[in-house]
Amino acid sequence: MATTITITGAGGQIGYALLFRIAAGDMLGHGEKVRLRLLEIPQGLKGAEGAALELQDGAFDLLESVEVTDDAATGFDGCNVALLVGARPRGPGMERGDLLAANAGIFGPQGRAIADRAASDVRVTVVGNPANTNALIAAASADGVPADRFSALTRLDENRARAQLAAVLDAPVASIRRVPIWGNHSATQFPDVTHATVEGRPVLDALAERVGDVRTWLEGTFIPRVAKRGAEIIEVRGSSSVASAANATIEHTRDWVAGTSDWTSAGVVSRGEYGVPEGLVSSFPVRSVDGQWQIVEGLELDEWARGRIDASVAELVDERDTVRALGVL
Ligand SMILES: NC(=O)c1ccc[n+]([C@@H]2O[C@H](COP(=O)([O-])OP(=O)(O)OC[C@H]3O[C@@H](n4cnc5c(N)ncnc54)[C@H](O)[C@@H]3O)[C@@H](O)[C@H]2O)c1
Repeated sequence: MATTITITGAGGQIGYALLFRIAAGDMLGHGEKVRLRLLEIPQGLKGAEGAALELQDGAFDLLESVEVTDDAATGFDGCNVALLVGARPRGPGMERGDLLAANAGIFGPQGRAIADRAASDVRVTVVGNPANTNALIAAASADGVPADRFSALTRLDENRARAQLAAVLDAPVASIRRVPIWGNHSATQFPDVTHATVEGRPVLDALAERVGDVRTWLEGTFIPRVAKRGAEIIEVRGSSSVASAANATIEHTRDWVAGTSDWTSAGVVSRGEYGVPEGLVSSFPVRSVDGQWQIVEGLELDEWARGRIDASVAELVDERDTVRALGVL
């Protein structure tokens, strides 16, 4: 049996960086056949059709079929994994409320189509921004699908945080563990090094030897660098993060399906953990066990960390309230 994977926005940049790696087995494993459904809006169909031609030319052993459509019911029919990448970007003169409203108009109907058409084991990774609130809208619109089948991508932020630590500590990135992202995938996010280790040793101790006052470095250098890395990439590359975002999407979904041996980060629906209001999609330290995200509980948070998390969660509350005022939730 092949796994059916629906990718929205498949004709866009992240879509193009995702498709070939998925077809090569990087997401679900090199023994798993895949069927791809590329869901686009009419203006994006040509891009998706072109990618489908190239997928054909890739002659991937694992790729059973590729279907391109602009019809959500067809796109999500029988899907086991959905990657919701397509979203409405902020246009000139668009306020935040307009952006949330435009995306509610995408993620609400997609949530409903998933409820109507997807397979009973569907898992939905939301990438399109504002990812946390888009996931909240999709989950709330998908009647009958458990809310824990929706999660939002914050793995790119975690990868960025681990890479920054590896650079300053002059250590391999693989040796940096337990750097969860809390809150929103936005500039308010909190990349948390409190429990992080480098080669098994506390990162905080290693940082103290390298950067002087650690809190000053975290506040003045590390957190802004991680939180604004997307803008830095745009400035240097002249275009937004694409391959790194696709890589994080693949890692997030792979870990969700296959399980983790240690913590990672994902935006998941809160059940009140760490005082995050129930129902919000907030990033937490998580593990994946038996195909389900589990929030790592019982971590001590000092006043500073608490304040940072509260600020990011307040932004999520504000986004939810804006969407509620539109009558979406
Ligand atoms: N969560 C993260 O860490 C993260 C990281 C990077 C980018 N992103 C977000 O990912 C999204 C995609 O980025 P990109 O660079 O691929 O953008 P892009 O503009 O290149 O591609 C987006 C594609 O989505 C399509 N689309 C728009 N509305 C759609 C709909 N209703 N149904 C299906 N397809 C639709 C467009 O036609 C377009 O082809 C953006 O919202 C971006 O902000 C998130």
